[in-house]
Amino acid sequence: MPELASRAHQQNIVPVVDQALKNAAINKNELSAISFTRGPGLLGALLVGTSFAKSMALALDIPLIEVNHMQAHILAHFIDDPNPQFPLLCLTVSGGHTQIVLVESHLKMKVVGETRDDAVGEAFDKTAKLLGLSYPGGPLIDKYAKDGDPNRFTFPQTEMPGLNYSFSGIKTAILYFLRDELKKNEHFIEENLNDICASIQHTLVGMLLQKLRKAARKYRIKEIAIAGGVSANSGLRSALADMAKAEGWETYIPDFQYCTDNAGMIGIAAHYKYLAQQFVGQEVSALPRMKIEGSEK
Ligand code: KG4
Ligand code: ZN
Repeated sequence: MPELASRAHQQNIVPVVDQALKNAAINKNELSAISFTRGPGLLGALLVGTSFAKSMALALDIPLIEVNHMQAHILAHFIDDPNPQFPLLCLTVSGGHTQIVLVESHLKMKVVGETRDDAVGEAFDKTAKLLGLSYPGGPLIDKYAKDGDPNRFTFPQTEMPGLNYSFSGIKTAILYFLRDELKKNEHFIEENLNDICASIQHTLVGMLLQKLRKAARKYRIKEIAIAGGVSANSGLRSALADMAKAEGWETYIPDFQYCTDNAGMIGIAAHYKYLAQQFVGQEVSALPRMKIEGSEK
């Protein structure tokens, strides 16, 4: 609900910044720069952050740093040790994006594969909704899947060429599957919830990893990372560990606190941009569809 989200940003931004300064035990006059998320995201929420950051940088007379949200998800891997080596491949999976990114340095990244329709997080959330689960449904599917049989049900998958993904077909397939089963047994969902969730998760994770392996072989890269909200998924984490063993990969999986959206990842991205002196002027505006490639400029 974009309108509610931007209103919540407006109400919370001053107390949140205030609390952050208190927790860090620093005075605002000690800050060396202000960074903000320029995009991609919901315009209303981005506008609040962008205008607040611009005003604060102007008032304190310090540089302003724009951050790309997807780039920040990847750079969350550099908050704690061990840090991945370059070049690395990162599977970035969130509510709005599904990308395989070739990361050549902290600030040089290229998207080599991505979804042509829904993001995988959306596929989790929308199928969860069909099951009557609350939003966001991804973590709930993960929870029920733990006690389910991942091979109980199979769903047809859309094959995409190259390194691209498509997740809208699977959502429709699950919709029809549930409709048919509910006709036979109106209690089908509650009687089989764990198995349904495990099977959905198994299918989505399988689709993600198959293309990741294809990319790793194509670019001959063995440094592999995952990032974004869906990287909290326990099925993805354990299947990645298995694939890493078979493929000889070194994998990097973020701490749970750095998987879903967080300010630490924006801070670490800004740190590298500060070192590279990549600042922006007061004319900068929010960019809801900001691309990852543009962020090194
Ligand atoms: O990165 P994020 O916090 O926000 C965006 O930038 O979109 O990702 C949110 C997405 C939601 O779709 C949510 O359902 C999904 O991440 N998610 C999960 C899990 N935790 C969060 N999906 C599957 N399993 C999880 N454990
Ligand atoms: Zn995110």
